[in-house]
Amino acid sequence: MNDLIMIAPMPPKVMADLSESFTILKYWEAVDKKTFLSNCAHVKFMATNGHVGCDDAMMGALPGLKVISSFGVGYDGIDVTAARKRGISVTNTPDVLSDAVAELALGLMLSLCRRIVDADAFTRQGKWLEGGYPLTGELTGATVGILGLGRIGKEIARRAQAFKMQVVYHGRNPQAYEPFPYYASLEEMAAASDWIVAVVPDNAATRKLVDRKVLTALGPKGAIVNLGRGTLIDEPVMVEMLQSGALGGAALDVFDQEPKMSPDLWKLPNVVLSPHQGSATEKTRIAMGDLVVQNLLRAKEGRPLVSPVG
Ligand code: 8YV
Repeated sequence: MNDLIMIAPMPPKVMADLSESFTILKYWEAVDKKTFLSNCAHVKFMATNGHVGCDDAMMGALPGLKVISSFGVGYDGIDVTAARKRGISVTNTPDVLSDAVAELALGLMLSLCRRIVDADAFTRQGKWLEGGYPLTGELTGATVGILGLGRIGKEIARRAQAFKMQVVYHGRNPQAYEPFPYYASLEEMAAASDWIVAVVPDNAATRKLVDRKVLTALGPKGAIVNLGRGTLIDEPVMVEMLQSGALGGAALDVFDQEPKMSPDLWKLPNVVLSPHQGSATEKTRIAMGDLVVQNLLRAKEGRPLVSPVG
């Protein structure tokens, strides 16, 4: 039986499937982490997720490590450069979650625009008896700027088109085979858009990419939607601009210090909040888990990995 170090708990099916081929060593349960790691020097396989990840120090404490299989598409918690230098392969779970994340993106946009959450409260509180709900905005005909036209961004674009929205995008480079107008400048895209949907990964180049300038260009009638990472937005600036009305609205699934966030956000009527659940559907989490398992089984058998990073 091969030993596998698991850094954070995985869904029950992943635990059960992995148990058939590996002995799972549960890092998160260890009281003395240092001693635990020193007893894992021989371990070749790791399962983790993109948040708790695995840093260079942990890799250094596991000299036998060969493969890190991560649950999630984002792998910002894993030092991939260090892994490469150490000859450790890293895998993630792309594609299988794109539909679920894109679905939530449109759901958040509809909730914010048509004020679904607030209108629900209004109806439950019996306020309708006193008069109708105020008129709302509409997605139809609006322009959505996708920040990061990757696999998830493209699924969001398709759904936005189904809602008769105009799609534009910003990223590092224009994509020759995409029909949507490209903006080399995020600020210019923000000025031309009613919505910005951020779905880029966290890295040094994307941190606080959505800053005061970008949010100012988006303006009092514009809204920011974030399903990437909380680090992409300058959160205190966004909160301040939402409070003053300099920014029209925000629909947020991710936060800089999640699950913590500024309580000021809870008081804002022009905000819809979601607890990082882009991929959190039963179907998608099973598909993600299967990919984690398949990568580890392939690694154990010495076969090519299904979804290596980079
Ligand atoms: C999380 C995500 O990974 O895939 C990603 O990058 O952000 C999520 O799907 C999920 O919460 C599991 O850790």
